Amino acid sequence: MTGSLVNYIKEKQLQMDEAILGYIEELEAPERLKAAMKYSAEAGGKRLRPTLMAASCESYGGDMENIIPAAAALEMIHTYSLIHDDLPAMDNDDIRRGKPTNHIQFDEATAILAGDGLLTYSFEIVASHLSVSDGQKVDLMRRLAEAAGPKGMVAGQVLDMQAENKEAKLEELEQIHTLKTGQLLRYAVVAGAMIGGADSRQITALEEYAYYLGLIFQVQDDILDVQGDPELIGKPVGSDETNLKSTYPKLLGLDGARKQKEMYLQKAKLALHEAGVESSVLVEITDYFGNRDH
Ligand code: IPE
Ligand code: IPE
Ligand code: MG
Ligand code: MG
Ligand code: MG
Repeated sequence: MTGSLVNYIKEKQLQMDEAILGYIEELEAPERLKAAMKYSAEAGGKRLRPTLMAASCESYGGDMENIIPAAAALEMIHTYSLIHDDLPAMDNDDIRRGKPTNHIQFDEATAILAGDGLLTYSFEIVASHLSVSDGQKVDLMRRLAEAAGPKGMVAGQVLDMQAENKEAKLEELEQIHTLKTGQLLRYAVVAGAMIGGADSRQITALEEYAYYLGLIFQVQDDILDVQGDPELIGKPVGSDETNLKSTYPKLLGLDGARKQKEMYLQKAKLALHEAGVESSVLVEITDYFGNRDH
């Protein structure tokens, strides 16, 4: 990763940490619920979805300030998805973002409810704080619900669970990864571009880009689950194998997974070019998503 990208991500992380914790701080909710929501929200996630939304917005000349409520909402939804993903009924993991998972730190009921709280509060934040026209706000909220809900991330999580202990084919894996991971990343790209002023032709090309970006991100996540450093990734290695998950390394081997990722990387960059984005930040983020070590 180049020094400028490191600084870019750091800058966005700081801005987002402040915004997210500010929103949670002002929330009037039972102390334990608020503590559990705050615990996972401040546990040190990379904030890549907000960073991506910012980069996409800035690529079309928009201002980062304008996306903050939408980016905070997206990161809260992502955080909720991780809390639920780690539950015993799902991946049953004990460590997340380098700390005990929410249900270990609190208890299962609190973790479920903290996730519910983050999910619903995210829509309140968009409704109350996003400064766009009412029409655009409704459109962005609908897109967020589609990306996160039963047509999007939730669908992907169900398919992921159903594919445990099975030999999923490549097309099936692409579908699972596109839904469970790709949809929220796609929202980051599209919402950022829309708020930044992209036109509908550019948005269509970006959707193609985001499709490959989602695959790249989750293939690398699968690879890190095999050969990552648990200290760096902040979560256990080998969880997928324990849970008999369908993953790229399982289907194609580590080398095959890397080759597939390279192919997705090329297609993503081509789509970016077609979206009229020559922004080096988005190109660099794409490479970073594919080659990150955490
Ligand atoms: C982990 O996402 C879950 C996936 C969708 C693969 P991240 O790797 O972005 O996790 P955090 O937010 O940095 O903890
Ligand atoms: C989960 O995928 C994606 C989500 C929607 C949370 P994983 O189960 O691979 O994510 P990690 O590896 O636990 O972060
Ligand atoms: Mg999972
Ligand atoms: Mg998991
Ligand atoms: Mg994983």
